[in-house]
Amino acid sequence: MKNFKFYNPTKIFFGSDKLNVLGSEILKYGKKVLLVTGQGSVKRIGLYKKVVKILEKNDIKIYNLEGVEPNPRIDLVRKGTKIAKEKKIDIVLAVGGGSTIDTAKTVAAAVKYDGDPWEMFDKNNDPVAALPIATVLTLAATGSEMNNGAVISNKIENRKLSIHSDVLFPKFSVLDPTITFSVPQKHTIYGIIDITAHVLEQYFTHVKEVPLQDRWAEGIILTLMEESKKVLKNPKDYDSRANILLCSTMALNGLLAMGVEDERTTHPCHKLEHELSAYYDIPHGAGLSILLPNWLDYVMKNDISKFVQFGNRIFGLDVNKLGEKYTATEGIKLLRKWFKEIGAPLSLSYFNIGKEKFEEMADNIAPVGGYMELNKADIVNIFNMAL
Ligand code: NZQ
Ligand code: ZN
Repeated sequence: MKNFKFYNPTKIFFGSDKLNVLGSEILKYGKKVLLVTGQGSVKRIGLYKKVVKILEKNDIKIYNLEGVEPNPRIDLVRKGTKIAKEKKIDIVLAVGGGSTIDTAKTVAAAVKYDGDPWEMFDKNNDPVAALPIATVLTLAATGSEMNNGAVISNKIENRKLSIHSDVLFPKFSVLDPTITFSVPQKHTIYGIIDITAHVLEQYFTHVKEVPLQDRWAEGIILTLMEESKKVLKNPKDYDSRANILLCSTMALNGLLAMGVEDERTTHPCHKLEHELSAYYDIPHGAGLSILLPNWLDYVMKNDISKFVQFGNRIFGLDVNKLGEKYTATEGIKLLRKWFKEIGAPLSLSYFNIGKEKFEEMADNIAPVGGYMELNKADIVNIFNMAL
């Protein structure tokens, strides 16, 4: 096991009545809130009204930043930063999914950053200070509600990049499974795939002898496989939504990374996916669904042993009867089969994406580390496998 630092200060309020803590928790940081929301779902489901009512009851003044798009843009961050500076905001509250949270985090950091906020991303200037951040999560997927990262897109430059810093951990997050009842089926599926990718990109590591981390990861995958079927049948199944929500938060809050890899070298498949969303504006989870099985097939040649364990422990394949090679490859086949069963896309043709930009996208990110070091040609090969 590698040496590691574990730090996670985010307070989690989990359950169906936890929105009520919002007033008292926000007041610990001040009375002026920048309320960041997406493209209208929070209003449609009545959540916005509830949040406003609680804040107003506590004499908290609200300034709005609305309209965060999936694959959130730096332009809206700039707008939010201007409001936050002018109004002397005390705390930035995101009510939404990963895109809304990442916008809120970036605004909170940009207020304290001397320069254009995009520099934090393209010059690797991770923030050193930020306003306090809080979240009410509406979609189980990214883990942003309990981690120190934010991912933002720049459409002019076709780039989608991340920042990481301890100052980006939310002070607290409200995780109410009933709020996720209304997540449309396709976003529920994409969320499940995103969680799966977070887990597997940390599971497939060259660090050996990490049995506890392996079993945490396998526990999350097995839970997702069971709960995904239930939630797709009944989107208002409280326990399934709760279990998936907990999986999402635990998948990317530092737990699985302990002793395994550094944040910047893990998530190689994510680096490939961020190129797809940057160029083609497709949902993050959909891009991962297409790339993840191909990335796994490709890197398997580097070391088959973890793949044998995966096939055995996740799908019950008997390596003594089936042999190592079969167990390893069949495990990834069965992963693909599960993706297909829940209705996740498996090929770039689903979005009419061809090979035109593969070289350019690979150039942007090569080399990519992780289970196997990928050079430009490897990355192009993986994109080609996904056609
Ligand atoms: O915009 P609104 O109207 O709110 O609708 C959203 C959006 O259309 C909708 N939605 C969310 N909650 C809902 C709901 N609709 C009905 N009821 C609800 N309760 O779902 C759609 C997708 O929302 P979005 O926030 O884009 O999805 P997600 O949470 O998957 O976030 C994706 C973004 O997070 C980044 C991704 O790259 C992508 O940009 N990531 C952030 C990470 C992090 N900060 O740690 C790590 C991840 O790997 C990921 O890269
Ligand atoms: Zn992700």
